[in-house]
Parts: sequence; C-alpha cells; structure tokens
Amino acid sequence: MPKPLDPEIKKQLAARVNYYREMGIYDFYRRPVQSRSEEEGMEIVAHVPAEVLQPATAVAAGMSAAGKRMPAAEDSSRQVAQKKPVVADQPMAGDLPADGLPTIKDKPAALTLIREDIGDCTRCRLHSGRTKLVFGVGNVNADIMFVGEGPGADEDQQGEPFVGRAGQLLNNMISAMGIKREDVYIANVVKCRPPGNRTPEKDECDTCSPFLMRQIDVIRPKVIVALGAVAAKNLLAINDSMANLRGQWYDFRGSKLAVTYHPAYLLRDPRQKKEAWKDLQMVMKFLGMQPPAKPAAE
Ligand code: URA
Repeated sequence: MPKPLDPEIKKQLAARVNYYREMGIYDFYRRPVQSRSEEEGMEIVAHVPAEVLQPATAVAAGMSAAGKRMPAAEDSSRQVAQKKPVVADQPMAGDLPADGLPTIKDKPAALTLIREDIGDCTRCRLHSGRTKLVFGVGNVNADIMFVGEGPGADEDQQGEPFVGRAGQLLNNMISAMGIKREDVYIANVVKCRPPGNRTPEKDECDTCSPFLMRQIDVIRPKVIVALGAVAAKNLLAINDSMANLRGQWYDFRGSKLAVTYHPAYLLRDPRQKKEAWKDLQMVMKFLGMQPPAKPAAE
C-alpha cells in the first residue's frame, strides 16, 4: 500500500494539475518517488498533447510534486536562480521544456484564462480604489516584455498599462530600439492603481504577482525588462540599489531579465536617460537588434 499523501503535497499536486488543465493538458499519471531524500512524495508526469505544444520543445523529466519549483499560479517566490535548460539532442513534440512548463500554443486563450482567474478581484485592498484593472497588453509572442510597478491614473481610467506620460516615454524608448509598442508585451507587478500612486505594499505585490508570473510563463519572452526598483526587487526578490541591479543579466523563469530605470523616474531626472539607453542597448545586443538609422542631420 502506498503511503497516504501528505495534505500539503496533495494540495501542490492539485494546483499543478489545475495549472496544466488550464493549458489544455488533461492526461496525467502519478508515480511514487522513492529515494530522493529532498523530493519524497509523488512525481507527476504530464502527457502533453502535441497540439498544445509548439513543434520543437526542449525536454524535461517529469516534475516532482514535492520539488521546489511550483506551478506559476502558486509560486510567488519569484526565484532568480534556475537550472540551466537541458536541451535534448532531438527535441520532441509532447515533451516539457527543461524548466518544467510546456510551451503554450494558444497564448491568447491561456491569457484569457488568467484574466478570468483574476476576475473582479478583491484579493487585496487596492481593489477599492480601482476604476479598471490593468491586466497587460501587447504581442503574445513578444521577444521583450516590460514590467512596470502598477497603474497610474491614466492607466486606471483606460485599463491599459503605460498610457500616461511615463507611457509616452516608454513608447519612445521602444521606438529608439527600432521596434513598436505593438511588438512587445507590457504588464505591471500590481494590476490595480495604488491610491495617490503610492508604491505598492509588499502584501499587495505578493497577492498580485502570481498572475504576472503566469503571464510571463505564457508569453515566455526572451527578455524581461524590469522598469524601476519596485519591478526589479519584486521579480528578483533582491533588495539592492538600482546601481547594483542594473547592467547585468538575471535568469528568470526561462527568460533573461535586465533592470533599467522606470520611465517616470526618467521624466523626473532626464540626465539618467543615457544610462537607461545603455540598459536597452544591452538588451538589443543580446537579441541581435539594430537601432534604427539616425535621420541625416539637416
Ligand atoms: N507606471 C507603471 O509602473 N505602470 C504603468 O502602467 C504606468 C505607470
């Protein structure tokens, strides 16, 4: 007789199964894990239907229910350190990528499910001052995802991130990279406007960011750009100065993450724009992007 499952592990298994189901994966089996001291419990293996996956994905073994990495919906730990992807010699459709999350084919549908899960959210106190919840916007296949702090007044009215003055500057930063706003995906750490545009509290970020993690796991951008200290510190779970956080790459949920200044800060201190441009150039270099040619001087 197998040992009855620990209730906590059972809860984790259920969360993982639900997470897969949201992505259209229904076929599972469980097998006991016997000898890995850290991961005793059940291992869950998903049979991922080929139509749910992109044709070529990296291979991963089944994930342990007692393992450290949880389904995104449950994972607010925002770990930076991730295992190096184990890419199979011959990637096979139907396998999971090395970080354990399937590549999603119908990204708009997956994002709709996340939006539906958020619903008419009252999970934290920010809901009481909200006009519109600001989910996120952009190209679901974007190589670059920008993550800000939280909606301001304009975003709260329009239900779209970065549409006010800071948004104008972000649009200019994106154009300077030779791409358009429609080419990237934009979201925030919190989805409701903090009163008076105050910095979101830790518990508000902790409540909301699992949804951002799920958005990241659906979009799977090559690069995430954290705009400002709140986004950087929340995503990376590192409390450090912007000076220390900028100028380097972080591995984050299968993406590379770079930190730059928040456009609102750049509006207050335009001298820092050249520093932000250095950060964006680091991103462009990584992605092999060329800045648009400067118009010839008159
Ligand atoms: N500032 C943010 O951090 N996000 C927005 O959407 C707008 C302003």
